[in-house]
Amino acid sequence: MATPHVLLQAPPELTEGQLRRLGEGIGKVVYASEHWVVKRPRSPTEVVALILLWKLLPRRFLQRPSRRLRLLRICVQGVMRVIPSSIWLSSHVKDVWRIYRTRDRRGERLKRLHLEGTPLVPEVISFPPIDVKVGGWPGWLTVSEATARVEATLHQHLARLTKEKRFAEVEEWLDRFLDLRRSGWRRGLFSLDAHLKNFGVAGDRIVLLDAGGLTDRWQEVEERLVFEEVVAQPHVQLGLGPVLAACPEVAARFDARWKEIVNLESVLRHWPRVEESTSSISTPSSSGSR
Ligand SMILES: Nc1ncnc2c1ncn2[C@@H]1O[C@H](COP(=O)(O)OP(=O)(O)O)[C@@H](O)[C@H]1O
Ligand SMILES: [Mg+2]
Repeated sequence: MATPHVLLQAPPELTEGQLRRLGEGIGKVVYASEHWVVKRPRSPTEVVALILLWKLLPRRFLQRPSRRLRLLRICVQGVMRVIPSSIWLSSHVKDVWRIYRTRDRRGERLKRLHLEGTPLVPEVISFPPIDVKVGGWPGWLTVSEATARVEATLHQHLARLTKEKRFAEVEEWLDRFLDLRRSGWRRGLFSLDAHLKNFGVAGDRIVLLDAGGLTDRWQEVEERLVFEEVVAQPHVQLGLGPVLAACPEVAARFDARWKEIVNLESVLRHWPRVEESTSSISTPSSSGSR
């Protein structure tokens, strides 16, 4: 198991000024200095408020977490404080929350175990705890770990390339993305949350930013791949619908390629054989085609 690079002191740029809010997901808010990012886990009420909004609002409002969405989320948290939790904490919300949390924890563990120190993830450093100044309330955050900042998420990078009509490069990056997925499978790891905001661009590499959703259990992989079979346009599933609208041929070629590669038979071909696999539960059980 690779340990993060341990420093005696945090990089000075983390404490020199206020860190910029760079990105956010359902469970974390990410702040950046020039070369590093630190992560703030959201509180349970924040996550539940986001899940509620996600249920209540049409998809298009949720495409990019904006200032308005943040305000709405804070309002929802206010409402949650005055009405009984039995009303808003429906079993569905609880389920979504529980799934996010268990997948996030397991993904982090698998990342530390199998990916840290490889070129598939950004470098992580750890240092004695420091307080950093961040935008927004309460303004301070204690951290003892930072991750190398990537130039952009793969989603942002592809959006920029299509805007500039650099379609050949778009296809190249999409191919690299499929290559990255295959190198994960060869290590016995599969991502159940392969949204392109969870991947970053570093030089000519793609790295995994968000380990949440990584699994080493073949049964889960199998279930996911059964679902993949009915997805007509994988690029839409990955959040690339609006991005590839300008180049429908690229989208169609990518979808075809995806179908060729992200299916049971092909994943199984890359998956470690029984004796090499990391744990007995990750063993393909119903491997009729092998
Ligand atoms: N190393 C990084 N460099 C630049 N941006 C990052 C980095 N890590 C995360 N981000 C940004 O923060 C967002 C949220 O981080 P993520 O780990 O995906 O949290 P969540 O588990 O809440 O989805 C990402 O979608 C991305 O935009
Ligand atoms: Mg994420």
